[in-house]
Amino acid sequence: MQANEDYRTIKNICCIGAGYVGGPTMAVMADKCPNIRVTVVDKDEKKINLWNSDNLDKLPVFEPFLSEIIKRTRFKNLFFSNDINNAIKNADMVFISVNTPIKTSGIGAGQASNLKWVESCARQIGEAAEGYTIVVEKSTLPVKTAQTIKDILSFYSLSSQGSQDKIKFSILSNPEFLSEGSAINDLENPDRVLIGGEDQIAVNKLKDIYFNWIPSEKIICTNLWSSELSKLISNAFLAQRISSINSVAAICEESGADVREVSKAIGSDRRIGKEFLNAGPGFGGSCFKKDVLNLVYLCRHFGLEEVANYWEQVVLINSWNQRRIYKIIVQKLFGNIAGKKLAVFGYAFKANTNDTRESPSRAIIKSLLSEEAIIAIHDPKVFESQISNELEEDLTKIKINNASKNKMWTFSRDIYETVKGADAIIILTEWDMYSNLNWEKISSLMRHPAWVFDTRSIVNKVEVRTSGINFWRIGGSN
Ligand code: NAD
Ligand code: UGA
Repeated sequence: MQANEDYRTIKNICCIGAGYVGGPTMAVMADKCPNIRVTVVDKDEKKINLWNSDNLDKLPVFEPFLSEIIKRTRFKNLFFSNDINNAIKNADMVFISVNTPIKTSGIGAGQASNLKWVESCARQIGEAAEGYTIVVEKSTLPVKTAQTIKDILSFYSLSSQGSQDKIKFSILSNPEFLSEGSAINDLENPDRVLIGGEDQIAVNKLKDIYFNWIPSEKIICTNLWSSELSKLISNAFLAQRISSINSVAAICEESGADVREVSKAIGSDRRIGKEFLNAGPGFGGSCFKKDVLNLVYLCRHFGLEEVANYWEQVVLINSWNQRRIYKIIVQKLFGNIAGKKLAVFGYAFKANTNDTRESPSRAIIKSLLSEEAIIAIHDPKVFESQISNELEEDLTKIKINNASKNKMWTFSRDIYETVKGADAIIILTEWDMYSNLNWEKISSLMRHPAWVFDTRSIVNKVEVRTSGINFWRIGGSN
């Protein structure tokens, strides 16, 4: 778009990052805005090929209803490409939707966000953009990151001032609140859309896009810093609720209360609300841990040590909860699981996604492997290659003798194959299929005395016990 044509409506959108956010978000945007051409770009060529694959089962992101939207929009007004510069050049608006993981080394290692991908996007946009371009932060970022992006881009616009092709940028923050597994519904019917920015023209252009399917009362406009911070705080509050209810689950197990009854009782108070009160193996996913730790890092940066300690406890309780579950399993199996086959139901960090990032399954399996257990994994959607990459990496860090490292885990899509000869079943992901199992048949295949550890409270305790299997449930009186 030419600099003097600021008023023009958005016709071309580019999104940098074709991951769990970029892919579904842009698919829905293209679906709702047939007059806008949306191009999602990524430096990962393999990923782009998968997005372009004829076989929709091969899309790199599994989300209910996503493939139907891709089928409707792809090659019409939705495109996936590796040609990043060209997509930026043609775009009136560029979304940055790249990964922002925790730094693993250097200053802030283990807490601060690694912003190298965001910074490289800003430079790429500066190099390739033409005319007036609105840059939208979609990634979750530490408060004040927009300033970094502005500083980088202003260098490019200043150096273009003398030339004929002047470039100009506006920066907006538009964090994403979708949850994996329900992403399409969250994108089509969000609780709110948050837009932070100072340039009212740019804010209005982004609002105009959302007006295609979002009622105006759901669009909240703030300044840039409130928008960036609200995203971190929103995740911190959600993670805090999970740590709270998991700490309550431990009290329930000691006191004869049942965490499901307590959740229902407290959640009926409208001020508390009933969502996010399911006790479980702890929160996983790529964001909660990183975003809370990022908040902790920011608090320390601002000299707010007590506030930092308060939020850090949310993450510490989460790890403690996972260790607690692992210890219960070992203790119930006579204090020894070496050489025992343990069936793990579910490897994804939650149901209805194939995402395994920070999955509680991986953390708990790693502890079980360190006891030399043999792990048989079942998951309906996660790719075996993904599990292999992660567990083989973990095995190199576990100090057990090398000979026993061979064949320490297996994977199958067949439940009955997975439980054959197993001493225990550990339910770690709440896939629907696990709540409707034939326990008589499963019991006949297991080695006894056998156990079911239900960390998601999804199976029928009576059916399991009647089939002759011992049963433990998180937060239950057991
Ligand atoms: P992801 O890892 O699935 O996808 C990010 C993609 O960006 C990758 O495919 C990577 O190759 C690509 N990329 C990185 N740098 C690039 C560059 N310079 N040029 C081109 N491509 C580049 O990550 P995600 O889960 O989609 O998360 C993206 C952001 O959204 C993060 O900040 C995250 O915190 C936030 N977020 C994630 C979720 C979620 O449910 N996953 C929800 C809300 C917000
Ligand atoms: C979360 C937030 O819910 C989204 O709003 C946010 O956009 C996203 O993080 C992000 O920024 O990445 P997501 O991680 O996809 O979404 O999934 P959640 O449904 O929040 O679940 C996170 C973890 O908490 C999962 O491991 C889940 O099993 C666990 N959980 C959730 C519980 O243990 N109990 C609950 O009651 C709810």
